[in-house]
Amino acid sequence: MNRLWLVVKSSIGKKELMALTGFCLILFLAVHLFGNLNIFRGTAAFNWYAETLHSLPAFVKIFEIGLLTIGAIHVFFATILVVQNLWARPHRYSWKRWEGGRSWGSWSMLVTGPYILLFVIFHLLQFTLIDKAGRPISTIVAERFQQPAWVAFYAISMVFVGLHISHGFWSGFQTLGVQNERRGELRSLGLLVSLLFGVTFGAIPIAVYGFKNLLQ
Ligand code: HEM
Repeated sequence: MNRLWLVVKSSIGKKELMALTGFCLILFLAVHLFGNLNIFRGTAAFNWYAETLHSLPAFVKIFEIGLLTIGAIHVFFATILVVQNLWARPHRYSWKRWEGGRSWGSWSMLVTGPYILLFVIFHLLQFTLIDKAGRPISTIVAERFQQPAWVAFYAISMVFVGLHISHGFWSGFQTLGVQNERRGELRSLGLLVSLLFGVTFGAIPIAVYGFKNLLQ
């Protein structure tokens, strides 16, 4: 308990917790993306995937509680670090030291992070927390993505998700002690991973809008 408190109290401990929870969230996104790709296989495959998941309510509950806890830890420590940096502002280099870099990427985290939090709240309200009234999930997704404004909102949000991952990925590895010489490689890998998530997730609303028979 004492050790955990020491980790939580130190700045580097907080960053390490953010890095670890960030990687768990990336893992969730990978699973979520993989599941959502069933949309491209058509209505039956997508509904089969969703219904199979929901036929395991205990598993889903544990998964959701775990995800919520990990997300809350990530957001909580991000907020604490931002506030601490604001307090430390009179010291000229404090912002530059944050996240171990001075790139525009570390600044962009301050915008993309809160935006993604808002996006997730909207997203849950639209797809998870709504009264489905017996309708299959394919109908709910198809209805949402018939509206150009929501397609645009989702496509833009995926750019934010990509930007957040692109910086979070390499800075997370750096926080966890990957050597400085590998910084270039990690940045490239982060860019690749973020493009993969951004483009593939972003393609879903656009495809559902463009190909009306995809989810019928
Ligand atoms: C265009 C891209 C996306 C589509 C089409 C999509 C679709 C969905 C659908 C249909 C559900 C409800 C599943 C069900 O209740 O059966 C869901 C849940 C969820 N989505 Fe997404 N999603 C997308 C992107 C994202 C992104 C980028 C994030 C995170 C940043 C995210 C986070 C979540 C979370 C946290 C849940 C709740 C999971 C649960 O309750 O187990 N989604 N999504």
